[in-house]
Amino acid sequence: MKILICGGAGYIGSHMVRYLAAQGHQSVVLDNLSTGHRQAVSPDILEVADLLEPSSLTGVFARHRFDGVIHFCARSLVGESVSQPYAYYENNVAGTLNLLRAMHEAKVDRIVFSSTAAVFGNPQAPLIDEDHPTQPINPYGASKLMVERILADAAGAYGLRSTALRYFNAAGADPAGGIGESHQPETHLIPNVLRAALGQGNGLRVFGNDYSTRDGTCVRDYVHVNDLASAHLLALEYMQANEGAHRFNLGNGQGFTVLEVIEAARRVTGRSIDFAQDARRQGDPAVLVASSDKARRVLGWRPRFVDIGEIIETAWRWHQSPAY
Ligand code: UFG
Repeated sequence: MKILICGGAGYIGSHMVRYLAAQGHQSVVLDNLSTGHRQAVSPDILEVADLLEPSSLTGVFARHRFDGVIHFCARSLVGESVSQPYAYYENNVAGTLNLLRAMHEAKVDRIVFSSTAAVFGNPQAPLIDEDHPTQPINPYGASKLMVERILADAAGAYGLRSTALRYFNAAGADPAGGIGESHQPETHLIPNVLRAALGQGNGLRVFGNDYSTRDGTCVRDYVHVNDLASAHLLALEYMQANEGAHRFNLGNGQGFTVLEVIEAARRVTGRSIDFAQDARRQGDPAVLVASSDKARRVLGWRPRFVDIGEIIETAWRWHQSPAY
């Protein structure tokens, strides 16, 4: 297959490109390089373009004939979405509409969409499955849920085949090296913990210790970035035989507190990791853990990295000498 990877210069997108190549598929990366990294993409497959400029999309679809699209482009910081909602709705919703229109004109009828656990808001059950109510508590989650709705409407109106994958906490790096997680500024837990282990960064802070969890810190479900990549290819294959708009939650089904992640990182790195206790961060639900039974049952998804230590180990290799 020849697949357009929107946001392929970013963290998850760059792992997707590598995974597709290993499975014998061809990728073209569309990225505006606002948060993605030029070094993460081989220059011969990079199309620098912006979803907010429809004319640049027309050119990309005219130059290539795609079997499908995987769409990672988004603004994705919960806190920032609360203070800059217009930017989030414009980029994540209006940008996606432009992409969908360009696909429609080019008669490309399959898309895998990066959605998020943030579509659920505060969980009402210990394990979040696809039937859990969607009540986002921040504009980021709301923008992703709006796109899920657009995709469902497009299935009925235009026959668009789509799969929204709700990632829980993407983590780790390809063990083969060369690509990894690099955000500016970095807000995610595991990179910040590993920077603290290296003596880098501005000091690790733990946000909140009064949640009703086993040690008072937030519980999250960490899923390896290569396992996310494998789910996207399974979704593309699934849509060959299945019409309509589909949704799957992707996680390991096991939650770890912030303090447990720090302890696991101490074991993996063999370093002391100091932190300062801080107030709760705005918009953080106490617990987010996925039920991925549907992805296992329907897509045949089998995550390979189920151990938090193993996931952190792959991230640690990257953070010791990041290429960008
Ligand atoms: N945390 C800290 N210190 C840090 C960074 C994070 O204590 O320096 C805590 C957070 O408060 C949270 C947990 O670690 O309790 C995980 O935080 P991350 O920022 O790593 O991840 P989030 O769960 O906030 O966000 C992730 C994705 C979002 C997505 C969300 C879905 O990054 O895009 O999951 O719930 F919206």
